[in-house]
Order: sequence, then C-alpha cells, then structure tokens
Amino acid sequence: MAAAEGEDYVDPVTLRAQARSQRKSLGRLSILIRQSVRLVWASGRGLFVGLLALQIAAALALAGQVLAVQAVLAAILDLDGSGATAALWTSVLVLAGLTAVTSIIGAVQGHMQRLLGELVARSMWDQVLDVSTGVGLSSFESPDFFNRLQRVQSNALSRPYQVTQGLIAMGGALAASIGVGAALVSISPLLLPLLVVGGLPVLLTSRRESRLEFDFSVAQTPVLRMRQYLTLVQTGRDEAKEIRAFNLADWLHGRFDTAYGTYLGALAHHLRRRATLSAIGNLGSAVVLVLTLGALVWLILDGQVTVAGAGAAIVAIRMLASQVQTLFAGVQRIFESGLFLEDLQGFLRLAEPAKEDAHGPEAPTGFGAVTADDVHFTYPGSELPAVRGATVELRAGEVVAIVGENGSGKTTLAKILAGLYTPDEGAVRWDGTDIRAWSLASVRSRIAVIFQDFVRYALSAEDNIAIGDVSRPPDPARLRASTRAAGATGAIESLPDGYATPLSRLFAGGRDLSGGQWQRVAIARGYYRDAPFVILDEPSAALDPRAEYDLFASLRHTLEGRTALFISHRFSTVRSADRIYVMAEGRVVEHGTHDELMAADGQYAELFSLQAAAYLNAEQA
Ligand SMILES: Nc1ncnc2c1ncn2[C@@H]1O[C@H](COP(=O)(O)OP(=O)(O)OP(=O)(O)O)[C@@H](O)[C@H]1O
Ligand SMILES: [Mg+2]
Repeated sequence: MAAAEGEDYVDPVTLRAQARSQRKSLGRLSILIRQSVRLVWASGRGLFVGLLALQIAAALALAGQVLAVQAVLAAILDLDGSGATAALWTSVLVLAGLTAVTSIIGAVQGHMQRLLGELVARSMWDQVLDVSTGVGLSSFESPDFFNRLQRVQSNALSRPYQVTQGLIAMGGALAASIGVGAALVSISPLLLPLLVVGGLPVLLTSRRESRLEFDFSVAQTPVLRMRQYLTLVQTGRDEAKEIRAFNLADWLHGRFDTAYGTYLGALAHHLRRRATLSAIGNLGSAVVLVLTLGALVWLILDGQVTVAGAGAAIVAIRMLASQVQTLFAGVQRIFESGLFLEDLQGFLRLAEPAKEDAHGPEAPTGFGAVTADDVHFTYPGSELPAVRGATVELRAGEVVAIVGENGSGKTTLAKILAGLYTPDEGAVRWDGTDIRAWSLASVRSRIAVIFQDFVRYALSAEDNIAIGDVSRPPDPARLRASTRAAGATGAIESLPDGYATPLSRLFAGGRDLSGGQWQRVAIARGYYRDAPFVILDEPSAALDPRAEYDLFASLRHTLEGRTALFISHRFSTVRSADRIYVMAEGRVVEHGTHDELMAADGQYAELFSLQAAAYLNAEQA
C-alpha cells in the first residue's frame, strides 16, 4: 500500500514544472475544464443549466441596452421643443426595462451560484473524506500527507467550482461581447478589434499571477498548519486544564503570533507582487481603451459617426471593455485553478489503493491458529525498525499475552496482527495462509481491536459502544451484555439519560467519564463486535488493581471461545494467560506459560519479581 502511495505522489515542485512545460497547451486547459464541468454537472445540473441560460439572457439584455441608448439619444436630438415624443418615452421605458432585467438576473444568479457552490463543495468533501478515511494508516505518519490534505482543504476543494464559475462568467461575457460587439459594429466596425486587443495585457500578466499564487500556497502550507495547530491547542477542551496549570497562555500566544507574523509578512510580499502584475496588465488595457476612445473622436470629427451613434458607442465601449476583461479573467481563473486541481486529482487518486483493500476473496469466518511469522516493520520515515523479527502464535480460543517495556514494539505488533500495517518482511498467517491472500477489509472485519489510545467519541454512550460494529443495526441486548462484561453498566446507568447521554461536555446534556470508566466503555466496544479475534492493547492501564484483576479473570468467560491477545505492563495480571510473549527492542525474547518463564529465570522472571517486590514494599509501607 505504501509503495502505491509513493508512486502516486507528485510533489508540488514537479507539478509546477510539469505545468510550466505544458502551459501553452490548450489540451491541458480543456482537460481541466472537462473535469470541472463533469463534477459540477454531477452535483447540480439543473442549477448549472439555469445559470448558463441566465447568462445568455443577460447578454441579450446588455446588447439591447446599447441599442436603446442610441434610440434615446436619437429621440432627444429629434426633439423640436413641443414636448416629449412617443418615440422618446418608448425608448426610455425600454432602456429602463432592460436595465432592470439585467440587475434582476444578476441578483438571481448570485443566489443560484451560492447554492451550486455548496452542492459542489459537498461532493468534493465526500471525495476528500473518502481519501482521508481510506488511505493506509502509514499516510498518517507523514507530514507530506498532512501538507497535501491541508492544501486540498484550504485551496483545492473550492477550485472545481471556481473553474465552472469562471466558465459560466466566460460564457456570459462571450455572449455579451458578441451582442454588444454586434451593436457596436452596427455603429462603426473599426472600434471592435481595438477593444479585443485591450484584454490581452491582462491575460499575459495573469498567467504569471496564477503561478505565483500556487507557489505561495505550497510554501505557506507548513506555517499555516502550525498556526492552526496552535489555535487548536488554545481552544481545545483537553488542553485547557494543562494550559492553566502550566500557565502557558502567553507562551502559546507568542508562538501563535510569531507564526501568524511570518505568514503575514509573506502574504504582504506576495500580494505586492500580484498587485504590481495586475496593475501592469490593467494599465496596458487602459492604454488600449484610450486609443479606442481616441479613434472614436476621430470618427466623429471625420463625420463617419452620428452624435447619437457616438453616445451609444461610448456606452458600448465601456460595456465591452468590462466584458472582455471578464472573459480574460475567466481564463485566468481557470489557469490559476489548474495547478490546484492537478494537486487535488493527485490527492484523490490516493484512495485507489484503499479501494483494493475491499478486493479479493473473503477471509474465512474463523481460524485454527493465527501466527505472526518472523515479522519486521519500520515506520515510514523512521530509521530504526519498531519490530525486528517477531514470531507469535495464538491458537483458537486461547488468551495470549504480550508484555514488555515501553517502546518494545507491542502496539506495533498488534497493529500488524490486526492487518493495519503490512510487515516489511515475514507475514501474518491464518492456518498457514498469508492474510494478504484475502481482502484486507474482510480480514479486519473478523478482528476487534481496542487501542491503548482508543477514541472517545463525543457521541452517546450507546453510539460509543455500538460503534464496535456498524455493519448491522444496533442490537440492544448485545449492547447491554457487552457493557456488563466490560464492567461499564454502573457508570452508564448512573448517567442522566443512560445510554442516550452524550459522553462529552461539547454537547447539551453531555457528561464526561473518568479515565477508567472510559476504558470500560472502550472494552465494551471491543466485546460488542462479533469477531473471532480480539486484541486488547493495555485495556487495563487506567483501571484500579481490583478492576484489572476482575477484567482479566473474567476475560475467558466473556470471550466465549474467542481468541484474545492481551497487552499489558502488569505481569501479575497476565500470569494465567495460556502463553506469554516477552518483547524487548522489537524482538520476542522469551515465551511460555508463567511457570515456564519463571523456571527459565530470564527477563520475565526478573521483571516479575521486580514488580512483585514493588507491590510488597508498597503494601508494607
Ligand atoms: N507512529 C509511529 N511512527 C514512528 N515510530 C513509531 C510510531 N509508533 C511507535 N513508534 C516507535 O516504534 C517503537 C515501538 O513502539 P510501540 O508503540 O510498538 O511500543 P509499545 O511496546 O507498544 O510501547 P508502550 O508500552 O509504551 O505502549 C518505539 O521505538 C516507538 O518510538
Ligand atoms: Mg503500546
């Protein structure tokens, strides 16, 4: 999985270089446009078509305005002092009507665009969340992944819609340009080419602007993420107590200000460059506009244009200049989005390997034995392996324990057994078959794993337990049985709304639980899942000694024949396990029953005696 992600990953620098080399190709532009339109079409085709139709209507109304201005002027010049003529009234009313239509269309379009924007955003979020929940766990070890995720969220997500908006604006501007252009040609054909040339300077400078924008976004992503992280720390509920206890407010605030300051400095520099570029482009266009108006004056002096025609031409030139600008701004917007869209497409492709997890034959519903066979694993980006040649075996129905010091590789081995990480060497087998022979999703569906750092969902107590198996509707009887087996019944029944109480102060009526009570809820979550293989990573760390003893003692009964892997630091707890594996520095250094290991007088015996002595001392004290 990791390898596939590596192949797909195109870093922003390469992306930009590719874009630079292809930037002249209209092919790239047409691909971007097609992708964006397909997406917007799929999200809200009715609105899309409606917006296009309104653009055309607005364009026609605009062209009509030019002709109406001409008619009004002609009617005014025709006045002979005997009061307003019918022709004047009619043309004024038509002009007013067309102006009103144009502004009404503008307002309606604004509302429709807002709705369409949200529809597109929803389908984009669907896709992005598919990636973030579907990629291999190892992606979450890599800052690169988070930088991309950030870029996608803060920039790329809105781009497909912007491209389409640019297209709609371009379509409208094009239609309006043609309409107003035709009206202008009917007054004087000379003026039109000059106006079209007027858009070119803006187009040229905006290419450069779009690359600047992408570079800026890439460069600022890490700083932005740090700033967001510092915001989370200062607004988080869990952090609030420590910030006060350690008096961290000023210190954290200072860090935040520094990060923000760095960003603002870079932003000011970036905006100055963009502003300079667009000023140059617009000045160029303005010069062409002056030339056009100069040409008009010459035409009037030369007697080629009537006074009414000249008045209408001035209105048309203003309208057309702004339409041509809109047209080129649309092109710019599409180019600017181009690099972000490619970044987004690359990100969305990351979900493809995840979809393969669901491919392949179904794993069997049970097994005679699970083995980790000489497995090795190094975390991406780490130098030292976390697990280096570990072999363990769990026969069906057994309760097997792993003990070992902090960092000895217990959790990593558990994740490998759970099919969450693929070992670099060696394999996890069920009755001799490598689990990679089956769809990984089906393997995982046969395993219940409760992590050391399980998630405390800010949802109801019922949800927090039933989340253990969402493949079927919640089963109240099973829910209560799991809660009872985990010893969580007391804690949940004393909540104001029982199982319906949200387990977080974030929401109205919510309550928080103690560390040990939470741990029981997590254990209930594991029991609730109807899986033949249960992995409990230090499920008792927050429990008091009596609770821990009860938990392990009742485990065999609770599991009803399921196979369990129990990770713990407390040797006394696991002494009745069928087999105990002792890990040190990523290796299994000893294994056997408690009695065998004590007789061997190795590391287990030494650590067991150490802990026992500590308990005895504590009791004597
Ligand atoms: N996500 C990670 N990325 C990189 N290295 C990691 C990651 N998680 C753990 N490690 C490293 O792998 C080694 C084994 O860690 P692991 O979490 O498996 O130990 P453990 O035996 O479960 O420890 P503990 O008793 O503290 O829970 C450690 O050296 C640790 O620093
Ligand atoms: Mg651990």
